[in-house]
Amino acid sequence: MKGRIMAVMSGKGGAGKTMMTVSLGAALARMGKKVLLVDADMGLRDLDLAVGQENEVFYTLWDLARGKCFERDALIAVDKHLDFLAAAQTETWEDVDPEAVSTVFEDLRDRYDAVLIDCPAGVGEGIRFARSVAGEAAVVVNPTWISRRDAERTLQVLGPKYPSFILFNNFYFSGKGSLSFQEMYDAMEPEHFLGVIPHSGEAEQLMQEGRLHEFSDTGAFGTALSMAARVFWDDKEYTQMQWERILRMEEHHRGTEHAGQADAAVSRGLRGRIRYPGNWKNRRG
Ligand SMILES: Nc1ncnc2c1ncn2[C@@H]1O[C@H](COP(=O)(O)OP(=O)(O)OP(=O)(O)O)[C@@H](O)[C@H]1O
Ligand SMILES: [Mg+2]
Repeated sequence: MKGRIMAVMSGKGGAGKTMMTVSLGAALARMGKKVLLVDADMGLRDLDLAVGQENEVFYTLWDLARGKCFERDALIAVDKHLDFLAAAQTETWEDVDPEAVSTVFEDLRDRYDAVLIDCPAGVGEGIRFARSVAGEAAVVVNPTWISRRDAERTLQVLGPKYPSFILFNNFYFSGKGSLSFQEMYDAMEPEHFLGVIPHSGEAEQLMQEGRLHEFSDTGAFGTALSMAARVFWDDKEYTQMQWERILRMEEHHRGTEHAGQADAAVSRGLRGRIRYPGNWKNRRG
C-alpha cells in the first residue's frame, strides 16, 4: 500500500510548521505507523536541529533526487518508526528540478505509512511543489489575526478542492490577549479541523535541546498531538469541549509549575529579598 503524504504549511513564518511536523510525526510513530519527516525548507533547513541530527546530515533530498546517493545514505533514523530526510542548504526551490524530486517521493511512499513535509514559509515555489506531491495539507495557524489571514491565503492557493486540514498551534485556554480557541474555531468549517495544540514550555525546551520527538505522552502537548494524529489517521472526532479540556490542562500545569517555582524561591532563602521594600520603609521612618 502507498503511504500518505501530508504537507505542513502556514503562510506566515514561525507559526510552528517544524514543531508540528516533528511532533505529529512522532505521535503517528507512537501509534505504530512508519513515518518519514522531510525538511522541504530548502536553503533554510532547521528540522535537523529540532531532532538533534545536525551532525548526521551528509546527503539531502536534492542529492537523492539527482542520484548522488542511495536512500539508505540520506534517510536518518531518529526514533523507533521515525526517520528523517534533510533539505538542501545551498540550493533553494528555484534551483532544483521539481520533477526529479517528485520521483523521490513516489519511491518513499512505498516505504512509509506517512511522509510529512515541513514546508517553507510563504506561498512560493516550495508550496506549489508540496501541493503537487502531497495528497493533503495541514495549515498551521496561531491565535492571531495575521496568522489567520495568512492561513486563509494559503488555503486559497491550495484551492477549495484540495484536501486540507487546519491545525491550531500555540494556543492558551485563557486567550491571553490573542484570539481565543472559540473565536478561531467558529470561523472555520469543522471538517477541516485537525486539532488545537497548546503553547508548551516542555516542547519549546525539547526543540531547543534537539529532542522534540521525546515529548511526554501524558502532558497536554502530547495528548493534543496524539488526538490530532487520530483525527488524521482514523478520522476520529473529538468535541470542542474535549479540546478545551487539553488547553485548560496545560494552563493548570503551568499554574502549578509557577507556584512550585515560587515555593522553591522561598526555600532558597529569597523570601528575605521580597521583604526589601519593608526595609526601605523602616529606614525612611
Ligand atoms: N506549541 C508550541 N509551544 C511552545 N512553543 C512553540 C509552539 N509552537 C511553536 N513554538 C515556538 O515557536 C518558534 C517557531 O516554531 P517553528 O520553528 O516550528 O516554526 P516554523 O513555522 O517552522 O518557522 P519557519 O517559518 O521559520 O520555518 C519556535 O521557537 C518554537 O519553540
Ligand atoms: Mg520551520
